Amino acid sequence: MNNMAQFQLNGFAIVVGAAGGVGKEVGLSFAEAGAKGILFADIDYEAATKVAEASKALALSPTYRALSVKVDVVDVNSVQGMIDLTAKEFGRIDYCINAAGVDVAEYVPFDQTDPDDYDRVLGINTKGIFLVTRAVAKFMQSQEPAQITLKRHGARDLGRGSIVNVSSAMALVAVPNKVPYTTSKHAITGLTRACAMDYKSAGIRCNQVCPVWIRTPMLEEEFQRVPETAAFVKKVAAVGRPLESDEVASACVYLCSPSAVYINGTTLTLDSAILAGPIV
Ligand SMILES: NC(=O)c1ccc[n+]([C@@H]2O[C@H](COP(=O)([O-])OP(=O)(O)OC[C@H]3O[C@@H](n4cnc5c(N)ncnc54)[C@H](O)[C@@H]3O)[C@@H](O)[C@H]2O)c1
Repeated sequence: MNNMAQFQLNGFAIVVGAAGGVGKEVGLSFAEAGAKGILFADIDYEAATKVAEASKALALSPTYRALSVKVDVVDVNSVQGMIDLTAKEFGRIDYCINAAGVDVAEYVPFDQTDPDDYDRVLGINTKGIFLVTRAVAKFMQSQEPAQITLKRHGARDLGRGSIVNVSSAMALVAVPNKVPYTTSKHAITGLTRACAMDYKSAGIRCNQVCPVWIRTPMLEEEFQRVPETAAFVKKVAAVGRPLESDEVASACVYLCSPSAVYINGTTLTLDSAILAGPIV
């Protein structure tokens, strides 16, 4: 473990979508980075509970606690129940990572897009983040700002909390045949900025990470559906491979760490220069 306090965590976290490829790695990385407690939340309770158990062997904090809960992010009461449980068990929520999400049912052009699938994808990917953020920010506002003493740099105010939305490069650009997904992710850019504006004076930060393809079950499914994607990723990503989920998790750790106190309302793109200019 490094000695830089700027890169260590010492608060309590909620990871939503904790059973997924990204959410699991976020939870494990937060435990390794020093989180004192993590609530692993997912609609798949059993899988979230297994991740919570696995995190205990990795935790840096000697007093680390891992809990799990079933949550459906589109259900207001279920989301409030998750926040109430965390508040009761941990007393604080310092970090909230929104990593639940779904892909479209079918890759089809705009005019063949099923309106029900549009509602489903926007419901989970966008309204889900809205409902979680709304509830968590309300709680964060009620807690005292956290302080830390950085070794060479003295005392620093960490604010009341950090929210990180796991969005996608599809928040910034479109690809063919994924209208609901692309729209849902673009909307997260708006949600992230709106949250930062409404809570910046309360010391609550909200940022989004925008990864391209990540090596997860979601990507394996995409490779099956559109086999040429694998060769395309290899060609366009400067590093010649998809992102690893721990690389996405590290970005989330960074945005919640004392080193990112100045970063609010922003987008951290993880794209190996794919969006930097035309593909040549
Ligand atoms: N895999 C990729 O290539 C990739 C690339 C860019 C962005 N992303 C984004 O990263 C996020 C995580 O993706 P992943 O690859 O880990 O996917 P995943 O399918 O492995 O995980 C998503 C998790 O969300 C949970 N979930 C789904 N609906 C839910 C609901 N209503 N309430 C609570 N939990 C629910 C699932 O149970 C699952 O555990 C998503 O928002 C996705 O869009 C993924």
